[in-house]
Amino acid sequence: MKKGGFVSILLFFLVVEAFYTLVGNIIPQVESRPPKEIRITRETSIDDLVFIGERIMKEKGGCFVCHELEPREAQPRAPAFKGPDPIGRRASRRVPGMDADHYLWQSLVDPRAYVVKGFFPIMPPVNKPPVNLSDEEIVAVIAFLESLGGEVTISLDKIPRLKKDLEGVKGGR
Ligand code: HEC
Repeated sequence: MKKGGFVSILLFFLVVEAFYTLVGNIIPQVESRPPKEIRITRETSIDDLVFIGERIMKEKGGCFVCHELEPREAQPRAPAFKGPDPIGRRASRRVPGMDADHYLWQSLVDPRAYVVKGFFPIMPPVNKPPVNLSDEEIVAVIAFLESLGGEVTISLDKIPRLKKDLEGVKGGR
């Protein structure tokens, strides 16, 4: 066989091989990519916590069925989170002696413990079905809320302490 013929056959197989390798690599990733799971750990940065918290509120949490970020309506169903006195700032002033971490944790697991003036107590506890957020997800949600006009002080490390301090709270676990 001529040398040129051998080289072109070799080249042909290399191209075919490369093609199958490529297809083999692409197809499984496209077809069986698992749903992206959001993991919240001690290593999760504050920025990521805030980002994840916002997503939980929009999706699993269903918070925006009632709440809005920007105050728009004259008579909203639930308090808006931004505006002139955003939740990150006002949270620490709602209940005397309660900082933002405690107030927000209580607002989420036992919304009736403190009902914001001018609203009805229609909010369901977020740690119970159907919403059923985990403690870690609640931390992410609080991080997002605190980021709105305040300082993010919540962290996973504070969970046991918050629960202990809020033991008397109805929805507290
Ligand atoms: C069925 C409607 C409804 C849903 C769903 C709902 N809320 Fe509420 N929420 C309210 C109402 C009404 C209030 C004000 C009355 C009160 O304090 O309970 C409130 C109050 C709050 C407060 C206190 C606000 C303040 O100004 O002090 C926070 C924080 C809050 N909700 C967060 C959330 C988050 C986070 C979610 C989703 C995981 C959520 N809510 C889902 C109706 C709702």
